[in-house]
Amino acid sequence: MSMRHLLSIEDLDREQIERILARAASFAEVSGRPIKKVPTLRGRLVVNLFYEASTRTRSSFELAAKRLSADVLNFASSGSAVEKGESLKDTVTTLSSYRPDALVVRAPFAGAAALVAGWTPAAVVNAGDGKHEHPTQALLDVYTLTRRLGTLEGRSVWIVGDVLHSRVARSGVLALRRMGAEVTVCGPPTLIPRGIEALGCAVRHDLSDLGEAHVVYALRMQNERMSESFVPSLREYVAHYQINARRLSPRQLLMHPGPVNRGVELSSDVTDSPQALISEQVEAGVVVRMAVLFELLSGAAPEPSGAAAQARPATEPQLA
Ligand code: NCD
Repeated sequence: MSMRHLLSIEDLDREQIERILARAASFAEVSGRPIKKVPTLRGRLVVNLFYEASTRTRSSFELAAKRLSADVLNFASSGSAVEKGESLKDTVTTLSSYRPDALVVRAPFAGAAALVAGWTPAAVVNAGDGKHEHPTQALLDVYTLTRRLGTLEGRSVWIVGDVLHSRVARSGVLALRRMGAEVTVCGPPTLIPRGIEALGCAVRHDLSDLGEAHVVYALRMQNERMSESFVPSLREYVAHYQINARRLSPRQLLMHPGPVNRGVELSSDVTDSPQALISEQVEAGVVVRMAVLFELLSGAAPEPSGAAAQARPATEPQLA
């Protein structure tokens, strides 16, 4: 079944995930060429709409679109009319006038991308909506891991840190479970959302059994989402939960979505160690986002409708 939007990992079954991963693998060859471009989406328009800070996600969506020869418009809320009070809906309506084929949306509240999908005829990709989901991050993480491990069936992945504020964790648990991995989330009780077991993961509050993990996935302490204090102090957090060379065995793989707070959730030595897949994750971000854009846009171009269709230059002779 073809996808209209990518809003949540919940909308994807294993077969769809595998199709995206296979497509991403085929694009990896393009990224290795001296001329890193294919004409697949030539003339299509991708708009990046970012209401929150981003380094990796925004740059990789831009690169992904460009490598497929699409045109890209980058819109950041700072420096725009959003600062003059324009609403998300009016901004989306305005940008939709340019007839984009895809809108990539990052916004600080849960459900933002789904709302946008109701306001635009474009395909919408959720690039992070508050604490809710970050589906392309989960897909690139699964891609990175399957390249290393082959199947994820029965592999143990521990996700450690601020799970409460993490859209990466929510999408990650869902995607890893779909692919057959065993997932454990671990952190102080104040940073583990109540009821997260319903996603199919185990919950731990200390690292004593971290040794069972094939993969340790560390999360950033997301201070910008905290309105109160969730841990007594960062020092206390580091003492109990930091992933460092003392806690991580050299045979375990280490992942992190970035940005890393060195010295908090990860020590510098493990961050820079060969067992860390952090740069591979970033690299995978480009090909996985190429695959997602391809999946959403490569079908037949949408039928033009209404006035816009009539205003279009005729492709057949009008006076026969
Ligand atoms: C994350 C995000 O913004 O959700 N970063 C990312 O997209 N790679 C995680 C974070 O900010 O900690």
